[in-house]
Formats: sequence, structure tokens, C-alpha cells
Amino acid sequence: MYLYQENQTYFAQVAEDIKPLAIVELESLGATNLRPRFRGIAFTATTAVLYAINYNSRLVNRVLAPILYFNCHSDKYLYRRASELHWEDFLSNTNTFAVTATVAQSAIKHSKFAALRLKDAIADYFRARTNQRPSVDTREPDLWINLHIENNQATISIDTSGGSLHRRGYRLNSVAAPMIETLAAALINQIDWDKQTPIVDPFCGSGTLLCEAYLYATGTPTGSLRKRFGLEQLPDFDPELWQQMKSTYNEQIQPLSPNLISGSDRSATAVEAARKNCSLIVHHKEISINEQDVFDIPAINDKIIISNPPYGIRLENSNDLGKFYQRLGDFLKQRCSGSTAYIYFGDRQYIKKIGLHPSWKKAFNNGGLDGRLAKYVLY
Ligand SMILES: C[S@@+](CC[C@H](N)C(=O)[O-])C[C@H]1O[C@@H](n2cnc3c(N)ncnc32)[C@H](O)[C@@H]1O
Repeated sequence: MYLYQENQTYFAQVAEDIKPLAIVELESLGATNLRPRFRGIAFTATTAVLYAINYNSRLVNRVLAPILYFNCHSDKYLYRRASELHWEDFLSNTNTFAVTATVAQSAIKHSKFAALRLKDAIADYFRARTNQRPSVDTREPDLWINLHIENNQATISIDTSGGSLHRRGYRLNSVAAPMIETLAAALINQIDWDKQTPIVDPFCGSGTLLCEAYLYATGTPTGSLRKRFGLEQLPDFDPELWQQMKSTYNEQIQPLSPNLISGSDRSATAVEAARKNCSLIVHHKEISINEQDVFDIPAINDKIIISNPPYGIRLENSNDLGKFYQRLGDFLKQRCSGSTAYIYFGDRQYIKKIGLHPSWKKAFNNGGLDGRLAKYVLY
């Protein structure tokens, strides 16, 4: 029996700023005994709840199922303990696999080296028994294995998600500086949306906020486009339960009110990417996307504006970003009465340039950038 089977305890990897929201989400999906940890949340779940979390979570990156926990003071011991696992329970020599590792305050100092030793143990395990070994594929392996060593305590886990859950399967077309899907989902959570007020993103880029708003409003499972999940590789995988759970959630998808979600961008390439991405999740052209410069929009009244304007680059026409944000502030003040704007600043130095007083500001890191979401009520 593996560790996760004995105690039904799993570990959800989550960005630090998103963790409080993910706790609420995991509880709503049925997880119990939640314990926040660094960059994640340990929790207890039945198999059905584990499946539901993987299929529906909007905020979690991966869910790990621990299979072995041991004291680990050297790479030799890591190799030995890893060699004792029955790896054929999880993969065959025709499958591909990849190992991710993190180490902290331990005798083994380097995560890459730790990952390499575990990878060697698995490859040698198969070679000794079959003369063949599974290949490593670091892009789309059949099985992701995670190794975490902290204070010389090692945990080997199977990634039940099978690669990060932010890869919903709709963002096949990208733009420069797209927002990660889990962050976009976290921002949508912040807007206190009644799902009746129209929502607009005038800097929609590849359409991530629009797609996440759509998934939220309709209750579409975030995993509905994903081709496979790591949990299918677990020895106790229950295909019937998995199908049944997916059908139950798919049947709960709600239709969207017309004209609820729309976006625009001044870049034709971005508009094309956003349209293509949205068409993968939306069935009836329910999201409208136009090519338009924000400053050409006559008015956005009585709506919710949620957007991630450009940051970190110089704009054309020698207008610097400071001036751009000043202009954006004027646009919001003069042409958006009755709306509430949620502006995500990839670079928080521009908050003061916008010249509006925010109701609140919240920290949300974006790929290492110390971003902020600010709320503006516009009269
Ligand atoms: C940070 S990106 C948005 C990324 C988007 N959230 C995503 O996930 O793909 C900013 C976008 O603003 C657009 N943009 C820049 N200046 C603009 C303007 N004046 N009017 C409309 N769009 C503009 C850019 O073309 C770019 O796609």
C-alpha cells in the first residue's frame, strides 16, 4: 500500500498569493483537514474528491499523491529507497516519465542532482528487469514524478494532475506577456461578480481573463479540454468513477447570458489569438472580441472592467508607460461612469500614475513579478 492510499492525504501546489482562495476552493470541492504549507496545501480526500479537484480546480497547479516518505541523508540512500518501489505499478518501459524536484536545508543540496538520482533509480529498475527502460520526456511525459526533500526528509509523489493544471487546453495561441490561467482565475474570484453585470477586458491579449470568466460563469470544468491526467496512471485508478464524476460536472454547465463577456485589443494578432482560444471553450460565439484601441472606445458604462494593461515595455510614439497609465486613468474617469474597474498592474509603480483612488489593492505575483490588482469604483 502506498502512502496516499494509507492516509488519503495529498498535496496541492499553489502560488503563495492564491493560497487563501485555493483553501476555500478545495473545501468546496470536498477536501478536508486542510493544512497550508509553503507553496501548497496538504489535504485529505476520498478518491472521488481527488478526481473532482483535478477536473475542476481553477486555482491549484498540481495535486501530488505521496507514495514514499523517508529520512534521506545522501544521494546513495535516495537511489536505494527509490529502487525498492514497484515502479511497474505506475509505468511500463514503453511509457515516458519526468522527475521534478525541490530541496531545502538538506544534505542533498541541488534539486537537479536529486531529480537525476531518482530518474537513474527508475531507469535502472526497469533495465535490470526488462533490459529496456522508459524514456524521459520533460515536455509531455506519461508520468510526472515529484521529489521533495526538506530537512533531510524526502517525499516521492506522483503528480495526479499530469502536468500543471493551468494548461487548460484552450490557450493554443499566445501573445507577448500572457497571464497565467490560474492567476486570471484568481483575479476573477476577486470581482464579486453576480454573473449578470457585463464584464469587459479592453486589453484582452490572448483572452485569458475572458476564458476564465467564461469558465467561472458557466461552471465549465477547467479540465474539460485536457486530454489526460496523471491520476490515470495510479495503480488504483477507477475509470468508472472518473467517467461518472466528469459526467456529473459536465451536466451542471450553465448557459451564458448574451453579451455578458467581451474584450478588445488594439493588436490584430492578439484579437485573432483571443478569438481562436475562446472558440475552443465557447460553443455559440458567446464572447465578442474586437480590434480596437482602448482610447477609441467611446464609453464603458455600468460594466465590470477587468484588465491587464501592458507593462515593462516602452510604447510606440515615444509615449512612455507613465503617460499611458495617466491617459488610462483619464479614460476610466471620463468615459466609464457607473463601472467598476479591476486593473492588474504587472508593475506596481504605475498605480500612482493612474491618478485614481483605489478601493483596495491586493498583491498577486505573476511569474516572479510583484503585481497588484486594484479596484476602482467609477462614478
Ligand atoms: C499584458 S498584455 C494582456 C495579456 C492578456 N491578459 C493575456 O492573458 O493574454 C497587454 C495587451 O494590451 C494591448 N494593448 C496595448 N496598448 C493598447 C491600447 N492602447 N489599446 C488596446 N490594447 C492595447 C497589447 O496588444 C497586449 O495584448
